[in-house]
Amino acid sequence: MQDDLERVLFDEPTIHRRLDEIAAQISKDYQDKDLTVIAVLNGSLMFMADLLRRIPLPLKLDCLSVASYHGKPQTTGEVIFKQIAPPDVKDRHVLIPDDILDSGHTLAAIREKLQTAQPRSIRVCVLLSKKKQRAREVDADYLGFKIEDEFVVGYGLDYDERYRNLPWIGVLRKELITSK
Ligand code: IMP
Ligand code: MG
Repeated sequence: MQDDLERVLFDEPTIHRRLDEIAAQISKDYQDKDLTVIAVLNGSLMFMADLLRRIPLPLKLDCLSVASYHGKPQTTGEVIFKQIAPPDVKDRHVLIPDDILDSGHTLAAIREKLQTAQPRSIRVCVLLSKKKQRAREVDADYLGFKIEDEFVVGYGLDYDERYRNLPWIGVLRKELITSK
């Protein structure tokens, strides 16, 4: 898997140090609040697991499963929810951790979907944000790292469902990205 990377962007210690900082901020911001974390599968799996173990609050955890890529490196803009009913978050403070903010379609759609369940607040926490013009404007309330507009894999991020188990984040070699 490692040979498929053009270069490593963030190694394990770097990711973990940043998670310490974000988790400390989240723990402070939500210390007296009823927090529900709604993770976005599958990409946020590693990020969420490592982040939540650093937050010593009595939070609730639920997941949303969405697909927006269908094995292509470019988003189609169509976001498919794999469950019919949104999680029960009425009157709760919701935090959504996701892997990466790219076009903004996914997080904008998730935000809209969760809003219909009448939460008290919604905040978004992304590990990575690409520096680019987005199709839909989404503000990350908590952000790990800003990156250039390149295709990255590892630490939960996939290309065609592969590389999620790489412990670090790197840029995938361009010749491995096929236009399907
Ligand atoms: P958006 O809807 O375009 O913001 O994209 C959101 C989803 O696309 C993310 O949750 C990822 O699953 C996927 N994605 C976007 N950019 C990348 C990337 O560079 N590597 C891997 N997955 C990506
Ligand atoms: Mg993906």
